[in-house]
Amino acid sequence: MIYLDNSATTKPYPEVLDTYRTVSERYFANPSSLHSLGGVSEHLLSRSREQAAALLHADPDEVVFTSGGTEGNNLAIKGTAFAYRNRGKHLIATSIEHASAGNAFSQLEELGFEVTYLPVNHDGRVAFEDFKKAYREDTILVSIMHVNNEVGTIQPVAEIGRFLKDKPKTVFHVDNVQGFSKVPLQLRESGIDLCTISGHKFHGPKGTGLLYVRKGIQLSPLFAGGGQEHQLRSGTENLPGICGMVKALRMTLAHESEGIAHLRKLQNRLFDGLKQIDNAVVHTPQSPLSSPHIVNVSFLGIKSEVLVHALEEEKIYVSTKSACSSKESGASEILKAMGVSDKEAEQAIRISLAYETTESEIDVFLKKLAEKVSQLKVVMK
Ligand SMILES: Cc1ncc(COP(=O)(O)O)c(C=O)c1O
Repeated sequence: MIYLDNSATTKPYPEVLDTYRTVSERYFANPSSLHSLGGVSEHLLSRSREQAAALLHADPDEVVFTSGGTEGNNLAIKGTAFAYRNRGKHLIATSIEHASAGNAFSQLEELGFEVTYLPVNHDGRVAFEDFKKAYREDTILVSIMHVNNEVGTIQPVAEIGRFLKDKPKTVFHVDNVQGFSKVPLQLRESGIDLCTISGHKFHGPKGTGLLYVRKGIQLSPLFAGGGQEHQLRSGTENLPGICGMVKALRMTLAHESEGIAHLRKLQNRLFDGLKQIDNAVVHTPQSPLSSPHIVNVSFLGIKSEVLVHALEEEKIYVSTKSACSSKESGASEILKAMGVSDKEAEQAIRISLAYETTESEIDVFLKKLAEKVSQLKVVMK
């Protein structure tokens, strides 16, 4: 099997599964229980929070464990809008957010908030100048994804963060689900107030994640309940998942610089190989402006679903668009926002890599891809 759909999800590290199982068996008590078993679970939870905070150069009070990127984005976006609604009603996002952010903004629009969606250029990147033009005195939230999930473009998060540093009335949220461990981002130095990450994108368990909430930022919780996670995320904590995710966080960050360099090498190999295949149009910017783990490419004349299934016959797994929207019909909204025609967007596939992807896997993939493309071109004629 050659698995190249790591932006949809990654395979958990075996050590993560060991941790998950051990914690499920030995530390099953509820951290909120008064008895000593609960106390042991609570201690483990606090230790995990301290470790996660240390790895992210944050404070333990700034770490809120969630069920993943979708929850993190919803808590950050709606939680800010509700908490600061008396300060202003204007919000800024991009036109290429993941559905978990984009649909949260649509819900807020229905409630009377005004959202400016920043356009992107043909590389899928927001212009800082457009952001500055959109910014207003009553902007209470700016929410930008760090790395786009379909094409891998990096957004000007550091520039926007610098601009917002002396705007204390505006909260800055970054969806770093795709960027984490692929494109380094310093939380404190970048002026970021809220940052979402998701465990299953870096070999942690599914249903785990973390929202960084900078000290002093107020959020209105989405769930009413027992007040766990600093009153921000009620519900019995998923201790096995949290411990598994923190293990994945530690293992991933331990290899971050070599991992990123390796991904960039593989990505360049892909870019070079794709040049040899007829009718390949690459949408991912071939520059430092893209994350090293994603390549989005159309093969003119071949529908993406057809190619995905043809590769699957060889046990090679890639995707059409993002996993959440890949079952929806129609061309990718992200590619369309970049000015790609509907037809070409319907012919796009996403290849996404992990640190463990090898050069020989890329070579086999490119060979099989070239074969499938030439076979399908004949059939489609
Ligand atoms: C950019 C981005 N944000 C948010 C999410 C949602 O994360 P989760 O699957 O953990 O809910 C994804 C998932 O693909 C994503 O790519």
